[in-house]
Amino acid sequence: MKYDFSQWRLIMKVIVTGGAGFIGSNFIFYMMKKHPDYEIICLDKLTYAGNLSTLKSVLDKPNFKFVKLDICDRDGVYKLFEEEKPDVVVNFAAESHVDRSIENPTIFLETNIIGTSVLMDACRKYGIKRFHQVSTDEVYGDLPLDRPDLFFHEDTPLHTSSPYSSSKASADLLVGAYGRTYNLPVTISRCSNNYGPYQFPEKLIPLMIQRALNNEKLPVYGDGENVRDWLYVEDHCKAIDLILEKGKAGEIYNIGGHNEMHNIDIVKLICDYLDKPYSLIEHVTDRKGHDRRYAIDPDKIHKELGWLPETMFKDGIKKTIQWYLDNKEWWENIISGDYQNYYKEMYGDRKVLDKD
Ligand code: NAD
Ligand code: TYD
Repeated sequence: MKYDFSQWRLIMKVIVTGGAGFIGSNFIFYMMKKHPDYEIICLDKLTYAGNLSTLKSVLDKPNFKFVKLDICDRDGVYKLFEEEKPDVVVNFAAESHVDRSIENPTIFLETNIIGTSVLMDACRKYGIKRFHQVSTDEVYGDLPLDRPDLFFHEDTPLHTSSPYSSSKASADLLVGAYGRTYNLPVTISRCSNNYGPYQFPEKLIPLMIQRALNNEKLPVYGDGENVRDWLYVEDHCKAIDLILEKGKAGEIYNIGGHNEMHNIDIVKLICDYLDKPYSLIEHVTDRKGHDRRYAIDPDKIHKELGWLPETMFKDGIKKTIQWYLDNKEWWENIISGDYQNYYKEMYGDRKVLDKD
């Protein structure tokens, strides 16, 4: 941390891991606008999900630096911490797609668990004011569809379904352990499903937008009645910023906007906005171990830190669809490469189900 003596301001140095991905990049944009005096270092391995072009608007800013690095690379991470001496680390870096974790769990264990421990070891070695772990509501498992009265609270037991959620839950346990054992000042946030600009078109909303725009079939898993609790990405970023500023070390904060929707209704809504026929929708073989319903109770972050979501779903989804319309080049570049093989491998064996 440095002082700007001309204005007596505190200058924080923040390492954002996974900042070339969906939420991490949105967080960088948010932080650079909200705290123009902070120094931001983006550490990212640039896996298939990381895209340097996403960060082009900030790459040449004097208070921004990009470092291509794997969070599992202990020597590289230590060297970076030794050189930069960050005040805060926000860990977004992860393998994040459930379907990929079902196909190949190993990389999820490496990045999501080992990588998190390497980052926290670096924090112990070089000192830190806060290590924030970006986690997910998926660590709580799922809720039944016929119990709308049930929600995930911070003390809901961890009960994971997929290799992805298990790896995130393992990381959460490690973060708690580093807090208790080594007094590392840690916080964890567990957010519901995000949507917004720059989301990789393997996730439900961007996949459906992109395929609908190309008049391609829209693959809905199973009956499409599964429920997700959707939050506009900027509201997630604001919540994390608030946790860094006002949150207490050792605490877990759930983030969500009470916006539960069935998958099939989201897909229909996208068709409606884009004026595409529902006949594009195809029910296909369900995801293995598919979680039925996620629903976050965000009472704690509201009461303790004053956070409330600001973007209503009806506005956020319009903005998001418009963003994909205005930024075709971004996603057309992605789907022109390896993505085609990914789609064939992931969806090729799924049977089309009868509608009734
Ligand atoms: P994403 O897949 O879009 O981005 C992940 C980023 O991490 C990419 O830039 C990738 O290159 C980078 N990365 C992957 N492995 C790395 C490694 N070993 N070293 C360094 N960088 C690496 O993911 P996202 O949707 O932006 O999610 C970010 C975080 O938020 C994840 O931890 C995820 O679990 C969590 N989360 C996501 C959602 C959601 O709806 N997307 C909801 C709640 C929590
Ligand atoms: P996804 O965006 O992968 O997020 P998560 O599994 O982490 O919640 O999926 C959201 C929901 O949409 C989930 O219930 C699975 C479903 N889904 C489909 O029906 N078809 C698809 O092609 C995809 C990617 C997801």
